[in-house]
Amino acid sequence: MTIHSPATDNSATERLRDQIAAVLTRARQRTLTLTDGMDEAELTAQHSRLMSPLVWDLAHIGNQEELWLVRDVGGREPIRADIDELYDAFKHARANRPTLPLLDPTQARGYVGTVRDKVWDVLDRSELRGSPLIDGGFAFGMIAQHEQQHDETMLATHQLRTGAPVLTGLAVPTVAAPVTGEVVIPAGEFTMGTSTDPWALDNERTAHRVRLPGFAIDAAPVTNAQYLAFLDDGGYDRPELWSTHGWAHRQEAGLVAPQFWERDSSGNWWRRVFGVLTPLRPHQPVVHVCWFEAEAYANWAGKRLPTEAEWEKATTHDPATGAVRRFPWGETEPDDTTANLGQRHLEPADVGAYPAGATPAGVHQLIGDVWEWTASGFEPYPGFRAFPYREYSEVFFGGDYRVLRGGSFGTDPVACRSTFRNWDHPIRRQIFAGFRLARDLVEGEG
Ligand code: AVJ
Ligand code: FE
Repeated sequence: MTIHSPATDNSATERLRDQIAAVLTRARQRTLTLTDGMDEAELTAQHSRLMSPLVWDLAHIGNQEELWLVRDVGGREPIRADIDELYDAFKHARANRPTLPLLDPTQARGYVGTVRDKVWDVLDRSELRGSPLIDGGFAFGMIAQHEQQHDETMLATHQLRTGAPVLTGLAVPTVAAPVTGEVVIPAGEFTMGTSTDPWALDNERTAHRVRLPGFAIDAAPVTNAQYLAFLDDGGYDRPELWSTHGWAHRQEAGLVAPQFWERDSSGNWWRRVFGVLTPLRPHQPVVHVCWFEAEAYANWAGKRLPTEAEWEKATTHDPATGAVRRFPWGETEPDDTTANLGQRHLEPADVGAYPAGATPAGVHQLIGDVWEWTASGFEPYPGFRAFPYREYSEVFFGGDYRVLRGGSFGTDPVACRSTFRNWDHPIRRQIFAGFRLARDLVEGEG
């Protein structure tokens, strides 16, 4: 989003304040949607060992908001210092969280409301400038993003739970003919990362020049129909298509298809989408595949995953002027004509459904629909400085993670930028992740 620039006059400060209030309110409405309509047992249950009980996410959202906005920015007394330890993500593994003496759903709702009431007062009194933490409203933006990130995690928990559906979404746009083909991105330098976006997180900073050889990138993410061709060609039974680690994982986890795919007795494939069994949509990007499945598919197709630098160059670089675009389509904020974001829909849209969101060179759906696995591990950019806390990014650098780009249908625009970096282990499939392919240019191309 465009953040009103560092407040230098009263009206700019007021606009920024209104903007912060709007993103915090939108995040809270979503959080409540994700926790309404479920009884106490469902909210405190463990739907998967990979996920927290929803009631943990709820109170953790409030606790982070208390730590950063009430205590740090606001300089106020703690509200519930006694629960900090319970909601510290580094103190208790997700699998153990159901056994903790957590706030119950009523207490958790009360707590997040109490925190938010204090935050409105802190926001009213803040000049939104004077320290790196509050300049441009950074801490407020960080907390709105934090809540939305947990909302996406809670959405993934909803996808894992069994039982009657509780969420609804608008029907996704479809296309008669999918977008196909690839786009050549010429060799040369581009600017990666950002030094100017006021709400960008530490791992996106700073802007730096990167030179890449020419490459080709697919115009769209890999679709269910394309992925099914790999599956039908024995993709899951051909070790030569998989890396050593990938094959070991495929064997151990018994992978035979993307998560949530089901085949009926006539051989037709279905997908369970938030509790609703849905015929597999051929032109929809494949989702709920791990990095190793993406790697095997790429080997089968004779291509590879893009690096995150390649992904970002295809997204933001204008070869004609050398300028950086904020979004694939230009400078305007995402809307329902350019990107599938914000849980408006409960699934990715067909490839080609957002022609207005393509880059001028014709790369579609880089933002929204599915997080895209890249070939890159999660590493700091040159000159990285942890801000405001090491546990957001720094402690994950150099680990067994792969970077994902672009956001999914479940990512809110406040937490989705062309420079935004997400990461996860290469075996994870519960996130809303798919992929697109790239390749080196051959002699004489580009
Ligand atoms: C950036 C999505 C990997 O959910 O683990 C939430 C975001 N950090 N609370 C995560 C996050 C702290 C993080 N990811
Ligand atoms: Fe968190």
